[in-house]
Amino acid sequence: MQVKKLADLDVRGKKVFIRADLNVPQDDAGNITEDTRIRASIPSIQYCLDNGAAVMVTSHLGRPTEGTVGPDDTLAPVAVRLGQLLHKPVKLVSGWVDGGFTVEPGQIVLLENCRCNKGEKKDNEELARKMAALCDIYVNDAFGTAHRAEATTHGIARFAPVACAGMLMGAEIDALSKALHEPKRPLVAIVGGAKVSTKLTILKTLADKVDQLIVGGGIANTFLLAAGKRIGESLAEPEMVREAQQVMDIMKARGAEVPLPVDVVVADEVSALARANRISVDEVGPHDRILDFGPKSSARLADIIAHAGTIVWNGPVGVFEHAQFAGGTKMMASAIAHSEAFSIAGGGDTLAAIAKFHIANDVGYISTGGGAFLEFLEGKTLPAIAALEARFGG
Ligand code: 3PG
Ligand code: MG
Repeated sequence: MQVKKLADLDVRGKKVFIRADLNVPQDDAGNITEDTRIRASIPSIQYCLDNGAAVMVTSHLGRPTEGTVGPDDTLAPVAVRLGQLLHKPVKLVSGWVDGGFTVEPGQIVLLENCRCNKGEKKDNEELARKMAALCDIYVNDAFGTAHRAEATTHGIARFAPVACAGMLMGAEIDALSKALHEPKRPLVAIVGGAKVSTKLTILKTLADKVDQLIVGGGIANTFLLAAGKRIGESLAEPEMVREAQQVMDIMKARGAEVPLPVDVVVADEVSALARANRISVDEVGPHDRILDFGPKSSARLADIIAHAGTIVWNGPVGVFEHAQFAGGTKMMASAIAHSEAFSIAGGGDTLAAIAKFHIANDVGYISTGGGAFLEFLEGKTLPAIAALEARFGG
């Protein structure tokens, strides 16, 4: 992937428009509950400020209705947090599309929620042209939104005098490309989560590439069904059994495998108080729900991970939110942390597991992308990256 990079450009005295992904979770009162994306956006902003650019930053927050900025839509809390991290006040500017605000070299303004502008989601050309006219350099640093072709992630890149990738975008592209396109073998992928249906494309894409495909959660249950096992009342998608079988066949034809659990942790309900039983996968009763890998299966996963050259991780293997079903994910997290392999992780649940088991510093790369991370793994061309590639030569 060839894109212009911010760090290669002279930004002194230039008006720089940075599209970041500052779409962070908030509580009911609007307080930011997790600020990874804001922190990850600092290097590009700091680089521009330090090198004398006049900096405009914008992001979407949530999925607002275009045309108004409702109380839940405002980037005001993000402006405060950005200011704390940059050690300078960050002014929030509304109604900015037609200009009418000033920002001096070495200064930063935050442009209010770009998804509140009419035409943003449909990638409207007139809007994109207006925004492009605000700047000398357009920087896309919003990897988390790279799978969306919207006016600030896509259209603007066509019309801005210069369009480049920010440092976070560059790091994401580098890390993901390294893991997928030139991995040190064995390449092990872990795909957990509730449903095969939402991750079918990624499972098939990975089945063509990886040496071992570990499935967890509801996905693993569907694979167990496909392998002829009884799963009681476990979460699964019986209509996806054929697809699961296909994924296993693709792997088998390549001399690779999908290591299914040989023991599991079951309960009759998903709750903090549920009584958990560790049993062989052949002992699952009609009312059991499989909620985690058992210790033997977890140890096997840990062994696979220990011998990996590259690890791609999306999704937990059990209901790790409850201690009695956290063992599999915990053992996996610890194996990843101790492995010599280059590891890359992404997705909301995965990030929560990484935080819970305190392994953030031991994962090779943690992606800020949820949907974008998955679509990259699916082998899709992300429209925001494609737009930057199209501007590589000029
Ligand atoms: C995300 O939270 O995954 C990104 O910010 C993209 O948000 P979206 O799914 O609302 O486009
Ligand atoms: Mg969201």
